[in-house]
Amino acid sequence: ILAHGNLRLPGSTNTVYITGVAIDGNNHEVKERHIQLVKKRGKVKALDEELYKQDSMDLKVEFETHFGIAHTRWATHGVPSAVNSHPQRSDKGNEFVVIHNGIITNYKDLRKFLESKGYEFESETDTETIAKLIKYVFDNRETEDITFSTLVERVIQQLEGAFALVFKSIHYPGEAVATRRGSPLLIGVRSKYKLSTEQIPILYRTCTLENVKNICKTRMKRLDSSACLHAVGDKAVEFFFASDASAIIEHTNRVIFLEDDDIAAVADGKLSIHRVKRSASDDPSRAIQTLQMELQQIMKGNFSAFMQKEIFEQPESVFNTMRGRVNFETNTVLLGGLKDHLKEIRRCRRLIVIGCGTSYHAAVATRQVLEELTELPVMVELASDFLDRNTPVFRDDVCFFISQSGETADTLLALRYCKDRGALTVGVTNTVGSSISRETDCGVHINAGPEIGVASTKAYTSQFISLVMFGLMMSEDRISLQNRRQEIIRGLRSLPELIKEVLSLEEKIHDLALELYTQRSLLVMGRGYNYATCLEGALKIKEITYMHSEGILAGELKHGPLALIDKQMPVIMVIMKDPCFAKCQNALQQVTARQGRPIILCSKDDTESSKFAYKTIELPHTVDCLQGILSVIPLQLLSFHLAVLRGYDVDFPRNLAKSVTVE
Ligand code: G6P
Repeated sequence: ILAHGNLRLPGSTNTVYITGVAIDGNNHEVKERHIQLVKKRGKVKALDEELYKQDSMDLKVEFETHFGIAHTRWATHGVPSAVNSHPQRSDKGNEFVVIHNGIITNYKDLRKFLESKGYEFESETDTETIAKLIKYVFDNRETEDITFSTLVERVIQQLEGAFALVFKSIHYPGEAVATRRGSPLLIGVRSKYKLSTEQIPILYRTCTLENVKNICKTRMKRLDSSACLHAVGDKAVEFFFASDASAIIEHTNRVIFLEDDDIAAVADGKLSIHRVKRSASDDPSRAIQTLQMELQQIMKGNFSAFMQKEIFEQPESVFNTMRGRVNFETNTVLLGGLKDHLKEIRRCRRLIVIGCGTSYHAAVATRQVLEELTELPVMVELASDFLDRNTPVFRDDVCFFISQSGETADTLLALRYCKDRGALTVGVTNTVGSSISRETDCGVHINAGPEIGVASTKAYTSQFISLVMFGLMMSEDRISLQNRRQEIIRGLRSLPELIKEVLSLEEKIHDLALELYTQRSLLVMGRGYNYATCLEGALKIKEITYMHSEGILAGELKHGPLALIDKQMPVIMVIMKDPCFAKCQNALQQVTARQGRPIILCSKDDTESSKFAYKTIELPHTVDCLQGILSVIPLQLLSFHLAVLRGYDVDFPRNLAKSVTVE
């Protein structure tokens, strides 16, 4: 099963999904080998209905086979039609079928080549090239007993771009081969019985035309030994291929994360993994890991959307981020994933914090406190821009990669870029086993729990806290910073309660949304510690409400944005009792002088700002560098209610994906 995002989620109204399934059709009515292919425009439910139509032969097939590949995606290549959905096939006889996440960048060249060889294409997808290519390799094989995984190995040598692939073929009934490069892929393992191994050794081999025959032979021999995973005593074991753990968690929490260029084959109930070259991790085996994710964690419960559920989870998620790490009695912080590298980090000459979207905003939000606590220069960078600039990176730099999914392509490429230049790399992710967490030298898991809504909420606050904790750990022996550290640690301790207090403002925020939801534009303005709040608030609004929204640095007001201010333009101002308070007051006056009607997010005890406000949302006060955690929540809630009132699907905003695994 390859599902980008989550297979299990309910329907979206504004995004077109296409789905499909391929199953071995070794049923009695069809004597010869065949693959049954059913594809549909629409979500999984539409496919389900199609499959179970009484007059369809698929119902019969269902009882005969437990083996299939399926795919659902938001249509990016070509029109959203059944023919463009996956599995894509090699020919009308479905000799080879494939499902794919990612993008093949050289597909046009491959397609031209295959067309010159007489292959006729039926879809507009890049994926169809892969299906045709494997047939081409098969038709031109120089030996009869070539294995399915050898074919796949040859195919991926020709592919450029990002992919997670699963193949089936009528020539290899009961077998599936999966591989990845750049896109995530994992294998779920379920068995009631003891497994032959918990560590699957990798079979390394070089695939040259000359030695294919030998390889096939040696591989078969080796497969009989312990190089594969199966249940002891020929008892059943089930394997699930998926791009996202939440797609399979209801079946098993035992998974194997594949590395780039791993080729995993399931044949005869046995799983083997091989590769041509050693992996980036250099690990000669792949372990079965147990995920902590609970099914219930990915269910919506009483909430109308995952995003809403995740906003309301923040008192617990921020606590989970700190659990076992912050010692409130001794005022110390210990991040287990960093402790062995702390000396090296303390010696570095600068910190570079890199991410995309919300994760980038978490870096902006904590830059000042990191500069203060580490006394190092801190650069914050959007991964794409960082790469575009060929930014100089040195061996004595420490580079942080912030990513909820741990799979964002731009962030991952930036990581490899920094690694190549000898910098120490640190991952800050929410996904155990993700590419970023595996490829970095060390890291922090933010422990926010699965985040399903495309618009990130609880991951932001947990990333924020993780970076603050890092700053605290770095400054432990700085005498001059002890009071400040204690103040921040006390602030961290009270955060869950204060977040609950902010969440209790939901009704008021809903009323505000009622007033604003027909507007076309919404500005969010602030500065200092709360500039990131404005960027993040505006991002939430544009992501899910499709309103134009801009996060404005109040210090830049006079340099352009002031021209936008009039009676009509709604402006949200974030004004907190912090060192920027007076400057924010100044901006407030500029806005009111132009007859703007500011909606102010301010501290509870702030009588000054409220005098000029059209409306206020009053927030509990905390230490300045943590205030952004409290001030972002009303904006998360506001964007949620605006989107609901505008009739949009909050969890599946149009044109966006939860993890963007292509550049
Ligand atoms: C996508 C998502 C955003 C997210 C960004 C970075 O654009 O829609 O919500 O902030 O990717 O994702 P990451 O998983 O790296 O934090």
